[in-house]
Amino acid sequence: MQKLEVLGANKLKGQIKISGSKNASLPILAATLLSKKKIILKNLPRVRDIETMLTLLKSLGSKVRVNNNHTIIDNTNQKKKFASYNLVKTMRAGILVLGPLLAKYGSARVSLPGGCAIGTRPVDIHLKALSKLGVKYKIDQGYVIANAPKGLKGNKIHFSKISVGATENLIIAASLAKGTSILSNCAIEPEIKDLINFLNKMGCNIKWISKRTIRIIGVNKIKETSYSVMFDRIEAGTYLIAAAVTEGNLKIKNVIPEIIKTEIDVLKKLGLKITIKKNEIQIIGNKKIKNMKIKTAPYPGFPTDLQAQIMVLLCKANKNSIIEENIFENRFMHVAELNRMGAKILTKGNKALVEGNISFAPAELMATDLRASVSLILAALSAKGKSIINRIYHLDRGYENIEKKLKKVGAKIRRVN
Ligand code: EPZ
Repeated sequence: MQKLEVLGANKLKGQIKISGSKNASLPILAATLLSKKKIILKNLPRVRDIETMLTLLKSLGSKVRVNNNHTIIDNTNQKKKFASYNLVKTMRAGILVLGPLLAKYGSARVSLPGGCAIGTRPVDIHLKALSKLGVKYKIDQGYVIANAPKGLKGNKIHFSKISVGATENLIIAASLAKGTSILSNCAIEPEIKDLINFLNKMGCNIKWISKRTIRIIGVNKIKETSYSVMFDRIEAGTYLIAAAVTEGNLKIKNVIPEIIKTEIDVLKKLGLKITIKKNEIQIIGNKKIKNMKIKTAPYPGFPTDLQAQIMVLLCKANKNSIIEENIFENRFMHVAELNRMGAKILTKGNKALVEGNISFAPAELMATDLRASVSLILAALSAKGKSIINRIYHLDRGYENIEKKLKKVGAKIRRVN
């Protein structure tokens, strides 16, 4: 079992290049199943969830070749429609192959993803919406067995709740449905816009007709194409917060600043100095961090995927702060570990009261989920002394070369077996 050793405290100084987005790559990889040809994808991050999705595509019959920054997916002989539990259980986004398989073949058997540390992760919204396109399904021994005997037919679909994954699954499924679909109350995360750009480049016909409404006219021809996925806005936000927590001076590159305007505005309100250039953001940390009430919300609100990270920064604020987690029901798993480092955080339901003026002390720690793991690294970087973080396989799901990137800007961090 690998662990990370972090020797703090030190200020992060220098430049970090942001990788491609895990959460844009996963739906785009699933959407390649619509094609019977070759698709070239660039800028996919080398993280475990992407490897798992590529393995899932290979289990469905796709041929996958990776050279340098290009991944070639060849679906000429892709015929299978069964996505197994052992792949989907480790990466919930596996449910995203359901839409494309139904669109292409009219039937599919995909494992239910099951829950994880942050919540039960149901897929009821995906299934209810797919049935509006003519899909009949049943749940049998943990699998969704779905069929559309007459093929998918376009329809009006209103999502009862904003769901990133359900919006993505339905956009992909409706792209080959007969006729027109109108999806309303959609999630509008940038990764969804990236998915739509990719699908339209493959010859689909998808248009935003209002803030949260999309019109999709089904097509029956998908072209070969190549596409470069967008930058990872959560990785970008994580490193900005890391610089703030260590009172460093960091430049992050390969970003589109307006996409993370909310996060930048929050960091400015907390008292950090931020300079924006075309594809670069510079942040200069300081000793005086202001307190704040932060509520996570669907985009363009403050992202739940940065909640654990901003909590570490708020521990160093000059007064108490409040964080409200409104997306997942159990996303405070990092609190107990941060409290073992000297934080004083009290949780009640979906609210966390974060006491300010904390100096973190080093400790041996346990990671529980992807974003909680990275929040422990941020706290360890600012604690004087050696911290050990166990179960870092969580981290490897979503952060490419994190030790290398942090070492390059002065962190004393190493992986030990
Ligand atoms: C995506 O998960 C992201 N994952 C998550 O990032 C992110 O936290 C989340 O969106 C919210 O932004 C990927 O993109 C691969 P949802 P997803 O459907 O699609 C409930 C990370 O760290 N819900 O928007 O699963 C659900 O339980 C990960 O990179 C239903 O009730 O999120 C949650 O409470 C973590 N029924 C809320 O909606 C459904 O059918 C939002 O979930 C679907 C969702």
